[in-house]
Amino acid sequence: MSINSRIADDQPESFAFSAESKKAIKTILAKYPKDRKASAVIPLLDLAQRQHDNWIPMKAIEAIAETLEMAEIRVLEVATFYTMFNLRPVGKYFIQLCGTTPCWLRGSDDVTRCIHDKIGIKSGETSADGKFSLLEVECLGACVNAPMVQINDDYYEDLDYETTAELIERLSRDDVPPAGSVQGRQGSQPLPGPTSLENVTSFPKTAKKTQSASGKAQKSKAQDGGV
Ligand code: FES
Repeated sequence: MSINSRIADDQPESFAFSAESKKAIKTILAKYPKDRKASAVIPLLDLAQRQHDNWIPMKAIEAIAETLEMAEIRVLEVATFYTMFNLRPVGKYFIQLCGTTPCWLRGSDDVTRCIHDKIGIKSGETSADGKFSLLEVECLGACVNAPMVQINDDYYEDLDYETTAELIERLSRDDVPPAGSVQGRQGSQPLPGPTSLENVTSFPKTAKKTQSASGKAQKSKAQDGGV
């Protein structure tokens, strides 16, 4: 099944935000001026997608347009621009594979080859069992730990053929590995560990003073019968 043509042919006849989503929409809208409701289009697309099995039907586009008093085409423009929004069903594990220059130079072709070997899908396809979808995307902002993929909400970084194979094998068993560098790097620090600021063992004195003052204030408040 291809997800190349972005909008699904088979569409549900209706879509309505759940009570929980409506509550979230109220909170989101409160962040923007009343005449700038359109600013909430991305969070509402995200809500709709999470509510609807990781894809956004056209009826949800209509519901968002009505909620935000926007033209439907404006909502659709945003939804089609961002690869994180799916306009047709995707597999349980939606793999977004970065193929932009830093990831490519660090071996994203090996990651692509592994996914093809192990799952048998190319970019824009979903596996026959509905478990995996693959989409090659542009930079996902984790270039320092290239090459990487995003699977649903999580980033997996510092991949090569073998570690990608292991990742797929675990996901096939619904054993979701912890996100981050598969080599165990913290953030983007060097592989052997930190090489600077190694001897910082305590807070500066000013921080201690602040803590102490705050402690005194709490003690005094408690003595006064405050909470
Ligand atoms: S180039 Fe792949 S995350 Fe930036």
